[in-house]
Amino acid sequence: MAEQSLSVFKTTSYQEKPNDHELSFGRTFTDHMFLMDYSEESGWHDARITPYQPLQVDPAAMVFHYGQSVFEGLKAYLSPEGEPLLFRPQKNLQRLNQSNERLCIPQIDEDFLLYALKQLIQIEKDWIPTSEGMSLYIRPTVISTQPFLGVAPSTNYTLMIILSPVGAYYKEGINPVKIAVENDYVRAVRGGTGEAKTGGNYAASLKAQEVAAQDGYAQVLWLDGVEKRYIEEVGSMNVFFKIGDEVVTPQLNGSILNGITRDSAMALLRHWGYHVTERVITIDELYTEYEKGNVLEAFGTGTAAAISPIGQLDWGHKEMVFNNGETGHLAKNLYDTLMGIQYGKIDDPFDWVI
Ligand code: COI
Repeated sequence: MAEQSLSVFKTTSYQEKPNDHELSFGRTFTDHMFLMDYSEESGWHDARITPYQPLQVDPAAMVFHYGQSVFEGLKAYLSPEGEPLLFRPQKNLQRLNQSNERLCIPQIDEDFLLYALKQLIQIEKDWIPTSEGMSLYIRPTVISTQPFLGVAPSTNYTLMIILSPVGAYYKEGINPVKIAVENDYVRAVRGGTGEAKTGGNYAASLKAQEVAAQDGYAQVLWLDGVEKRYIEEVGSMNVFFKIGDEVVTPQLNGSILNGITRDSAMALLRHWGYHVTERVITIDELYTEYEKGNVLEAFGTGTAAAISPIGQLDWGHKEMVFNNGETGHLAKNLYDTLMGIQYGKIDDPFDWVI
């Protein structure tokens, strides 16, 4: 448990909370935040919950110049008994440290961070939305703060956790989206930072997303950065296909994010008796199988949207429509089961919720 101490400074001016129906994704923030600093002399120190407020950061801070930063995304839900529930938070904190390792950011004590997060959530419990599909999104972020323009790992960092009551990430919700296979831009390459949750990966994805949106697509399907053949991710989500009796998701290779919803979806599907494989899959194979009538469903998985069915996938002039463009059986069952477990409404066979 907590070796470090955690100071708590409460706000004196509480905001009025929005109605659930006014919430979209990531625009509203709660009254308090968590902060902790790192220096070479003191390690991670000065852990504190404070009123939500702007940071004072030097314009020369390395994060602004070289992007040395990582983040996480997870959610809190309110149980039918009114208690806050977290979904597999240990996995997110583990991944935060894996991202830290890749970005040369010092490791953080995961047990202490979980303790601090729980304290913060308890203080902000009344901000957890109760309507269906809504939750309190938790965004831990580490930034490099040393004022220095040399290219090197920073000597100083700040970790912050902010909270945002959220509704659906995509306006489509669980309704299928239209996706374009991206043939020009790439999101990440093997040996790069694709597996880390770092802002640069998302910055790199914006242009493709912008072009796709102009053409009427919700997102793009990312292919590998070298041969542009191997399917990697969809938008900011991992991707699954049901091909005949097999449920396939691209295997982790260093450029694909190790998604916690991906892992949870695989566990649930296997629990239900599906044959799930993590393997390489090319866009050519997908199209060949599609033409044979074997691709029965496609969907993305991620924390923000949970499950997002793909209704149509366009690869140049080749058009693939899955499950008649409707939400498929697997996507619907996964969505309902994940929601049920996350809200503490149905049996949690894996003890994911704490
Ligand atoms: C997620 O699907 O949870 C993501 O990573 C998207 C997030 C960056 C908003």
